[in-house]
Amino acid sequence: MQFVKLDIQAPAAVLTIDRPDCLNALNSQVFREIAQGLEELEANDEVKVVIVTGAGEKAFAAGADISQMVHQSGKEGRELAQLTHRANFLLENMRQVTIAAVNGFALGGGCELALACDIRIAAENARFGLPEVGLGILPGGGGTQRLARIVGVGRAKEMIFTCDPIDAQEAYRIGLANHVVPREKLMEECFAMAERIASKASFAVSMAKSAVNLSMGVDMTSGCTREMDLLGLLFATEDKTEGMTAFLERRKPEFKEF
Ligand code: COA
Repeated sequence: MQFVKLDIQAPAAVLTIDRPDCLNALNSQVFREIAQGLEELEANDEVKVVIVTGAGEKAFAAGADISQMVHQSGKEGRELAQLTHRANFLLENMRQVTIAAVNGFALGGGCELALACDIRIAAENARFGLPEVGLGILPGGGGTQRLARIVGVGRAKEMIFTCDPIDAQEAYRIGLANHVVPREKLMEECFAMAERIASKASFAVSMAKSAVNLSMGVDMTSGCTREMDLLGLLFATEDKTEGMTAFLERRKPEFKEF
């Protein structure tokens, strides 16, 4: 892979978008490589948490590559959106937890990539925004859908219609960023959270992720029915016996399933 680097430090792995010269702008190849990297990480039982970040000091990713899009036809634009969705749905639905380590500009497709992650930790220099309508298009990698679900329809519409970027503190205030940390502590904080998550029963975490994801798309009764089914499934696992026995024996559990 040319523009995406994987660094496995089990139980975490870091996927870095590596095009710092153009602020990690996302062209078709980058989206393909992100998907390829995520598929590789999803198959790895040692990896429990995937941290996504951008190379360099300035950007997580400053959006889809405008120098590519400017020449593209309607058909090509739709194909680009498909590639974007493929990467973002992988992030959202993969069995591992995904954390966006937002180390600067997260604009357009970069913001959408962060929105598709389970958790966003922002460095103090992070800037989130969806500038697409200022370029004559719209956020086409799930931005019109996921932003509204995370921060509410009113704030999502304001960000999308005005294109005004928001800083890390504002992102935290509206629930777009889970935490804001000093730039130099960003990866340390992400790894620390990854460790905490990885110390839990991984299969249970994975099922909980899928249940919470479902809440964004289905009615309460269907969501709770699915939750009930997943709970039944987890009651039948060795990890459930281990987790509860360890609690009663006042020792640390040793989880195995994933
Ligand atoms: N696509 C292609 N190239 C991009 C890019 C993008 N989305 N974002 C930045 N770049 C390139 C710039 O063209 C520039 O290339 P150059 O050095 O060859 O001229 C380089 O990255 C550095 O960007 P620059 O604009 O000089 O940095 P800056 O600090 O002045 O501004 C931004 C940073 C993020 C505010 C600005 O680059 C920007 O607005 N980028 C576009 C954001 C956007 O609209 N994204 C959504 C696309 S749908």
